[in-house]
Amino acid sequence: MVNADTPGTKQGTITTIMDTNNTIGAGARGEGTGSTDMGYDAMTGPAGPQAREHAGAAIAGIRRHAAVGPGAPAEPVELLEPAAQDVDLRHHGDAEVGPGLVDLAVNVRLAAPPAWLVHRLAASLGDLAAYPDTARARAAIAARHRRSIAEVLPTAGAAEAFVLLARTLNPRHAVVVHPQFTEPEAALRAAGHAVHRVVLDEADGFVLDPARIPDDADLVILGNPTNPTSVLHPAATIEALARPGRILVVDEAFADTIPGEPESLARRRDLPGLVVVRSLTKTWALAGLRIGYVLASPDLVRILADAQPLWSVSTPALIAAEACCTPEALAQADALAVTLAADRSYLVERLRAVSGLRLPVAPRSSFVLARIEGGPQVREQLRERGYAVRRADTFPGLGPDWIRIAVRDRATTLAFAAALEGVVT
Ligand SMILES: Cc1ncc(COP(=O)(O)O)c(C=O)c1O
Repeated sequence: MVNADTPGTKQGTITTIMDTNNTIGAGARGEGTGSTDMGYDAMTGPAGPQAREHAGAAIAGIRRHAAVGPGAPAEPVELLEPAAQDVDLRHHGDAEVGPGLVDLAVNVRLAAPPAWLVHRLAASLGDLAAYPDTARARAAIAARHRRSIAEVLPTAGAAEAFVLLARTLNPRHAVVVHPQFTEPEAALRAAGHAVHRVVLDEADGFVLDPARIPDDADLVILGNPTNPTSVLHPAATIEALARPGRILVVDEAFADTIPGEPESLARRRDLPGLVVVRSLTKTWALAGLRIGYVLASPDLVRILADAQPLWSVSTPALIAAEACCTPEALAQADALAVTLAADRSYLVERLRAVSGLRLPVAPRSSFVLARIEGGPQVREQLRERGYAVRRADTFPGLGPDWIRIAVRDRATTLAFAAALEGVVT
């Protein structure tokens, strides 16, 4: 049992709920002065009705906070790093594509979902009269990751998962490891939370040293592999961040871009507070469908599910989740990852030949981060030549000279590299 706060401090108490392994969630803030921490068994087991009532109170506190909207925080929020508002966290690659442009800005891998998946989706349209039922999708996802069904929550893309976490957790010290996908931070801020950025350095190859995470951080969010750096952190590095009293959110939206997913924590049930967020929109070209999921301890899944809008994930999205968890689909995803690695090597080779362009790390995912002087002009001139690449200055820690390039097939890469050469020479 862990209490993440000192009872009676001016900020009130943080309630910590524990799962069967250890701590999973932070609860109500500022409600009275006494400690109200409790164990997981208080919610479900032998501790009985009184403890259950306490657990209910903790979750009610979380929900109260969830009712607080943007611009109306429950109590004054002190931003740990006021300069943190400096970039547009809500800018994403889709804003950079346009008619007639070859899209190297968005990290969706295929131009369209594979035919077998389109057929499954089309077949599901006849069932649209019924409200969605998550049971089969949850079972399929659970089996795929060797988890229990109670540890799975389908979401409308990974993006919904970040919003649910932000609205239900009430961290005292939330840390987001940057540069990374900005929606987790945007969701935290929109829910009224202060965010502490730990910004990784180019000099270190954007590799995470666990010692950089403050000991008292009770919520830590990072991506693996990380967008936009394309760094794959070793599972051991991330594991080292897990501890009782802390929620550790690992965004694994791109985990399946690496054959065998060697550093994924999706199957790990032993790490306290671990939350793995996955997306099916990248590999399967389902960005418009919206499907992802959360893997976490059953009590956190329950809390998130309670905060989720009813029927948030549509029937076709649930069908897609089920279909993408079959052994055949997993084998295809792995084969796609192998092809991707070869296509990426080709892209890297071409980029290395471009004068003035630098690659800070050996990329491991479906995109490559590059540095080139005069980044905005380079992007603009590439657009004039028909190519959209992703500006990377909206990622905290990166500046105007950074761009992110999606890995595409060799023919596209070759033509793009020629266009880039034309721009820089
Ligand atoms: C690292 C990362 N996580 C999550 C997401 C969101 O994925 P989804 O489409 O499933 O909401 C993105 C989308 O770009 C992303 O880059």
